[in-house]
Amino acid sequence: MLAFRSFEDAGFSGKLRAVPEDEEGIDLGFLRREIHKSEEKAKAEGNTKPTFKPARPYAKIYRHVIYCVPTFANPSSRTMSLSHRKELVRCAREYDALVICDDVYDFLQWPADIKTERSSLDKAVMPRVVDIDRVLDGGAERADSDGFGNVVSNASFSKIGAPGMRTGWVEGTEKFAYGVAQTGGTWSGGAPSQMSSTYISDLLESGALQSHVLRTLQPAYASRYRTLVSAIDRYLVPLGITLPQPDRAIVGGYFVWLHLPDGLSGAALARRAKEEENVIVPEGEMFEVPGDEEAARFGDNVRLCFSWEDEDKLVEGVRRLSGVVRRMQRDGERGGSQPQTGAAREGKHDLGAFR
Ligand SMILES: Cc1ncc(COP(=O)(O)O)c(C=O)c1O
Repeated sequence: MLAFRSFEDAGFSGKLRAVPEDEEGIDLGFLRREIHKSEEKAKAEGNTKPTFKPARPYAKIYRHVIYCVPTFANPSSRTMSLSHRKELVRCAREYDALVICDDVYDFLQWPADIKTERSSLDKAVMPRVVDIDRVLDGGAERADSDGFGNVVSNASFSKIGAPGMRTGWVEGTEKFAYGVAQTGGTWSGGAPSQMSSTYISDLLESGALQSHVLRTLQPAYASRYRTLVSAIDRYLVPLGITLPQPDRAIVGGYFVWLHLPDGLSGAALARRAKEEENVIVPEGEMFEVPGDEEAARFGDNVRLCFSWEDEDKLVEGVRRLSGVVRRMQRDGERGGSQPQTGAAREGKHDLGAFR
């Protein structure tokens, strides 16, 4: 939702399009078809040149922008396969698109296996899309290209340092990085958040940040993740609820994405969970792309967040959620009926943190 608002603020209001996911990440067939259609439409309308930004020698205006979270996605918790990553780069090159990879969760990873002792990993699960652009078929700076590349990776110290840092970084080709450095805010002050950057630089040089990620964050989140998934296996899977990509060896991020059975409505579940059990979960519909909801519907999904609550609350939250699902199944409720009254519970369980 943060992404929607950011793109709208950047001038894309009314132009956002949703691309459904498949089990390997983004649905590339759909993406190609829709880009092709939008190019045909633009040509028919004579919309063939950028008009809203001045031409600058260090800047480039791409024909399309593709935004994605390839690793431990928010909200779907999926990780894009290597073959999809390569195909995405090829597609972006073919259509002169910039792929913006929101890589904020890449460092928060651990083995999925509930029985393993291991709970930290210092090697990436697979190359980032920006790494692939750098080397695939001659790389981003190959002879016949303009040198800007087709992928930029952004990440954030909010997830691996502290949320209040409000500092992140972007990575792309040298030419792309130079262009970013010349944008108004950066060119004027050197960095949008000078003071936090100074602290972060110290933390990186001393190795304190790296050690915080490996020794504190990864083990803590791994333990919360495994507790949550064990509770889901125990209480929700028997009711027909499923998780995407169940066979992954490495998992991470903040979220688990649940698919509800029998057309049960995520919105009804979220409402009843809050009213009857004091459990907060966001319904899938909150993540549908404004203006293009039809293309990727999430009416029968909810997202659980394991990064915020203590482990006993995660288990109790899932147990309470299963009670609501059972009552909905018993009542044959798909979406609309009124909640039961008088069952409100003590002790809020917030499984919905972070939008
Ligand atoms: C995919 C993704 N990108 C970016 C952010 C926001 O990062 P920051 O806290 O640095 O603004 C979030 C936060 O939840 C997120 O899920």
